[in-house]
Amino acid sequence: MFLKAHLVTCLFLLHKMASATRSLLRAARPAGVRTQIRLASTSSKTLSLKERLAELIPAEIENVKATRAAHGKKAFGPVIVDQLYGGMRGLPALIWDGSVLDAEEGIRFRGKTIPECQALLPKAPGGSEPLPEGLFWLLVTGEIPTQEQVTALSKEWAARAALPEFVEEILDRCPPTLHPMSQFSLAVTALNHNSAFAKAYQEGVNKKEYWGPVFEDCMDLIAKLPNIAGRIYRNVFAQQAQGKLPAIDANKDYSANLSTLLGFGENPAFVELMRLYITIHSDHEGGNVSAHTGKLVGSALSDPFLSYAAALNGLAGPLHGLANQEVLIWLKKMQSKLGEEPTDEAVKEYIWSTLKSGQVVPGYGHAVLRKTDPRYTAQREFALKHLPDDKMFKLVGQIYHLVPDILLEAGKAKNPWPNVDAHSGVLLTHYGMDQMQFYTVLFGVSRAFGVAAQLIWDRALGAPLERPKSYSTAAIQKIFKDKS
Ligand SMILES: CC(C)(COP(=O)(O)OP(=O)(O)OC[C@H]1O[C@@H](n2cnc3c(N)ncnc32)[C@H](O)[C@@H]1OP(=O)(O)O)[C@@H](O)C(=O)NCCC(=O)NCCS
Repeated sequence: MFLKAHLVTCLFLLHKMASATRSLLRAARPAGVRTQIRLASTSSKTLSLKERLAELIPAEIENVKATRAAHGKKAFGPVIVDQLYGGMRGLPALIWDGSVLDAEEGIRFRGKTIPECQALLPKAPGGSEPLPEGLFWLLVTGEIPTQEQVTALSKEWAARAALPEFVEEILDRCPPTLHPMSQFSLAVTALNHNSAFAKAYQEGVNKKEYWGPVFEDCMDLIAKLPNIAGRIYRNVFAQQAQGKLPAIDANKDYSANLSTLLGFGENPAFVELMRLYITIHSDHEGGNVSAHTGKLVGSALSDPFLSYAAALNGLAGPLHGLANQEVLIWLKKMQSKLGEEPTDEAVKEYIWSTLKSGQVVPGYGHAVLRKTDPRYTAQREFALKHLPDDKMFKLVGQIYHLVPDILLEAGKAKNPWPNVDAHSGVLLTHYGMDQMQFYTVLFGVSRAFGVAAQLIWDRALGAPLERPKSYSTAAIQKIFKDKS
């Protein structure tokens, strides 16, 4: 009797969830993309990303409710005053589902390490690096997609890739002296002109349906980044090719199209590098400057273009994404001073002179990591396979053996080991992309994947406006005045 009643309740709940899913999907899918998504799912005989997401949302809403009901009032560790002054290091303050960073082990995307992603995610025909399309699917759903689902995503992004003419004009009018990251941020901000979410909000969309137009904007954002990056690269560094970009090929994957737009599409090793590069740079949990900025601005219900443009402005800082540019400048200066194959002693002296002049050693240290960044290791393995004899790669290896001891001896850095930026520029330079001012743009293309995945979930789960509490030094002194 009890079992029967239970079964009826379960069936009723399942039915409710299925119909909620269907109506969520109906409401969230603007007419313009309906045909395209159906085509993607029927041609692959599997669900599109949006359809799968719509299935997952009701259960995740319940999951969050249950977590809050069970643990919502529990303390999550003490907060000490130093954390307020110390850039909030270690302060548990955010929910970020796509990835979690362990200080010793490094990043896991939805629970999977970089080597696991390399093994499990679908590859391009003949390729051995994971397709970033698959990584995006994983970040959004927590699931490994099929080859067909990934191909459908490549096609969908290709179909959405074109830029509005006025955005092309904005880029073409930028002086080549304007930093590529500033141009990037301008263009992404301007995409807000066609935001599906901003439009839906003006039209009074129900908050339960926010995620649908946010999903559309995020897909558009990711899809349009190769055209923005390609245009900036050609305008700034190949001025004779200004404004002339090859067309996106709907039969190629995202990284192949990006490589073509940059002018490197004929080199299969560069295309493979882009697949690996985008995958490993996509997400690094929620507290880093770019990810947190994107989430924060999104919490004000600014659309994904405005949110991601803000994230890009944070990524453009030398302690964050610009460090890849800084590493190359530092390495080139070292080579011009010491020659291409310097001795250990000369390199050590150079590292000490950097520290003594009050500068950081770029590419080393991390706010969370306490071991060698597995993103560094993945790039090193790529280099060992594709460019083992490259002189600058060898120099990077030599530096790896020298910097940690020096940083430890200097006694300040909590983490003396290399991060992702210590390696990326060397690989790009090897293939002829030696314009280091551009490197952070590629980081920005990649980081959109992680920020977009979280923006979608934040709106699906009704994440509130962020508003932490701040204190003045006088207020802190007053609070502790009589407590010694
Ligand atoms: C990433 C970074 C900003 C983390 O900062 P953090 O969390 O404050 O790091 P720490 O707690 O270890 O910093 C403690 C001290 O060591 C110094 N330090 C950290 N990394 C250093 C490095 N690579 N070279 C020299 N000094 C370093 C810091 O500047 C700080 O000095 P201060 O007390 O005089 O202000 C820092 O390691 C850094 O500047 N690295 C170089 C830039 C870089 O590679 N950025 C990319 C990160 S992915």
